[in-house]
This record gives sequence, structure tokens and C-alpha cells, in this order.
Amino acid sequence: MRENELKINLLFKSDNLRVLKILSKTHAKTIKCVYLDPPYNTGINRKHFKDDRKSKKWLQMMRDRMKILAKLMREDGSIWISIDDSELYNLKILCDQIFGRENFLATVIWQHKINWDGYKGKFQLDHTYLVGYRRSAAFNFENNTRPRTVWLESEVGGQADALAESKELFGDKNIFSTPKPERLMSYLLQLTTKEEDLVLDGFSGSGTMGAAAQKMKRQWIMIEIGDQCEMHILPRMNKLACQLNKEDILSCKENNLSSFIYFSDAKTYKRYFERSLVAK
Ligand SMILES: C[S@@+](CC[C@H](N)C(=O)[O-])C[C@H]1O[C@@H](n2cnc3c(N)ncnc32)[C@H](O)[C@@H]1O
Repeated sequence: MRENELKINLLFKSDNLRVLKILSKTHAKTIKCVYLDPPYNTGINRKHFKDDRKSKKWLQMMRDRMKILAKLMREDGSIWISIDDSELYNLKILCDQIFGRENFLATVIWQHKINWDGYKGKFQLDHTYLVGYRRSAAFNFENNTRPRTVWLESEVGGQADALAESKELFGDKNIFSTPKPERLMSYLLQLTTKEEDLVLDGFSGSGTMGAAAQKMKRQWIMIEIGDQCEMHILPRMNKLACQLNKEDILSCKENNLSSFIYFSDAKTYKRYFERSLVAK
């Protein structure tokens, strides 16, 4: 792929595994920050996705994807995974195996009040987690920041803020069921990336990470398997950036970070990528 083609933002409607396999040929060692907000495996299905796998299957699903993501990350890159108590400990062991224990950064506690239908526990839930790993010792937080291990709702937003943002963006009847607040994503990007760095969100939902990345002039790749890709992400990103016709990609402007291409399946990207190799 040509240098300028690598710089175009990409949105995929697909199973992320299929896309990651192709990206491993086009984008190896290019990603500065990976963000994953997978189904937490709470055992209770959500409006927009299923969330009740056998733990072993959930872990296998994560393992397959993270093995490839490790190859896509820059040596000075990092990966952050949103999770709750359902799979936190299994996830930590898996990440130790893939990224190495020495590359564990922290299990950040994101303090925010949570209300969700179907929760059967006896607690008022007040936090979820972000598990962070660096790719290697070359990683540093931007501007030598030393972030705290507890991120407060008052500083980065919480579930209520995220739902309010979703309502504002998509209307009363089309609120995404489990969005993240944009401030949380911006804070993570501010800590781990600079302008023009490439960010990948593998479970994009309503596209909060991509929207934050776009506003902060980071380059982004988003992958979402569900119809929310068209219902939420596309309209959201269309307000922030210009959608390129994939037929026009070869003539797109160099360094044009404010454009993106939408691939409605992984196969189309594979074909595009192969054609682009032939055109070289
Ligand atoms: C918790 S939501 C992400 C929410 C997102 N961070 C936001 O702010 O809107 C998880 C998303 O992962 C998607 N997903 C689940 N399995 C996937 C897969 N194999 N490939 C791509 N997306 C997947 C679901 O459809 C769901 O929209």
C-alpha cells in the first residue's frame, strides 16, 4: 500500500477477526493505541449485541484477536480493554500470556455510577475497569504524564453522560445501549497518542472512540459487526469527516486525515488491497 493510502481512516462493518487478519498484511506495527470495548460476558444479552458466551469461548474469541493485535501495534504502542468483574481475572491472565507480564501497565478503575437492566448482584455498581498493556518498554505516556489508577466520573464522564450523549446524537428512540462517554476516550488518547497517530477500536459500537480520535486529529480504524455500524457510526462520522468513495481512493489527497472509507464487509477491503498491490 502507498504511504498516503495507509493514512486514510477506515470503517468496517464486519467480524473484527476477518478485518484484523487482512490488516496484519497492510498495517503491521503501525498502531499506537488499541482500544477494545468487547461484550463483557455478563451473561445477559443487550439490545444491540449478545453477551452470554461460555467463558472458555469468550476467552478464545479475545485470544484470537489479541494475538493479531500484538502484531499490529507499534513497539511504543499500548492496548486498553474495557471490562467488568465478569471476565477481569481471565482477561488479565490472557494478556499476560500475549503481551508479557512485564508489559502490564495497570488495571485502571473507572469510577462511575452504573445502572443496567438485568444486573442480578446485590451491589450498587460504582466502577468498571480499563486493563492497559504496553507493547514493549519503548512505550511512554505522552508528556511524561503519570496518570492515576482511578479515573473519576467527575473528570472523564460516566454511564449517564454517555447515554445523554447518545440521546443527543441519535435521538430518544435510537440511543445506543452501552456507549462510552467521549471524555473517557479523549483522556485515553491524550495519555497515549499524539496528533496523526493511528488508533484502532475493534468493537466500535456507536463509534465513540473514532469520534474522539477524529476531533483530536488522530487517525482511526473502527470495526463493528452489528447494524449499529450503519445506524450509529456512519451518521456520527459523516458529521465529522468526509466519506470517500472507495473507487476514488487511489486519487485521494496525501495526508488527508479528515476523510474515511467505509467497507461494508472485509472482503471488499481485501479486494481493494489486492488491487492496490497490483496497481503499484
Ligand atoms: C460494548 S459495545 C462497544 C461500545 C462502544 N465503545 C461505544 O462507545 O459505543 C461492544 C460492540 O462490539 C460489537 N462486537 C461484538 N463482537 C464483535 C466482533 N466479533 N467483531 C466486531 N464487533 C463486534 C458489538 O456488536 C457491540 O456493538
